[in-house]
Amino acid sequence: MQLCVALDLPTQKENLALLEKIKTYDVWIKVGFRSYIRDGKEFIEAIKAINPEFKIFLDLKLYDIPNTMADAAESIMGLGVDMFNVHASAGKLAMKTVMQRLEKYENRPIVLAVTALTSFDEENFKAIYNQDIASKADQFAKDTYEAGMDGVVCSAFESASIKNITSDSFATLCPGIRPFGEDAGDQKRVADIAKAKEQQVDFIVVGRPIYQAKDPAQIVEKILKNL
Ligand code: C5P
Repeated sequence: MQLCVALDLPTQKENLALLEKIKTYDVWIKVGFRSYIRDGKEFIEAIKAINPEFKIFLDLKLYDIPNTMADAAESIMGLGVDMFNVHASAGKLAMKTVMQRLEKYENRPIVLAVTALTSFDEENFKAIYNQDIASKADQFAKDTYEAGMDGVVCSAFESASIKNITSDSFATLCPGIRPFGEDAGDQKRVADIAKAKEQQVDFIVVGRPIYQAKDPAQIVEKILKNL
């Protein structure tokens, strides 16, 4: 299991200051679309300048027609990131088209698809997909696997069952993690490290428990020791 630190602070300066504090650790860094839209490629370069070994997950959740998604995926190749994602609800054809477009690259990033956004409740989810969250999330995971992608973004509570219906090597990346039972904030269902291990989660995404801590380095170290 690997730790992915969410860079969700309001400014580039604050995000980079956080990275300075944790630069000696072997972690992934998640760049969301707020930061990327505002700070762009220079931000990716600034992260690598702090530690070239940082692995970067660009969390842009692409969703468009297949050709446009594949074009965007190809542009992402030029950024030097190590992982990015799309929405599975864009469809199997779109996901296949993305993977086919990246076939020619030897060192392509890991590509994941989001199953169901954790912000949905059943009622709102059903209004769009006309199905309950659990069964549709499984369906999205199967589509993602069959399209040749590397894994999914999902809830820690779904990780083991998704691996059951796909493959053990199909990666799961899970937000909503409170490593040692910290405050959930606005997350609805949170899992701790023990739960994530039990669910065979590959990547845990942790934001507030790290960047709101008095000593982010100490909490990162504690998490890494427990993985
Ligand atoms: O602060 P916290 O650990 O809750 O941050 C979780 C991170 O994961 C945030 O960047 C949030 O946007 C992201 N995320 C999420 N739920 C999803 C997808 C992404 O919490 N379903």
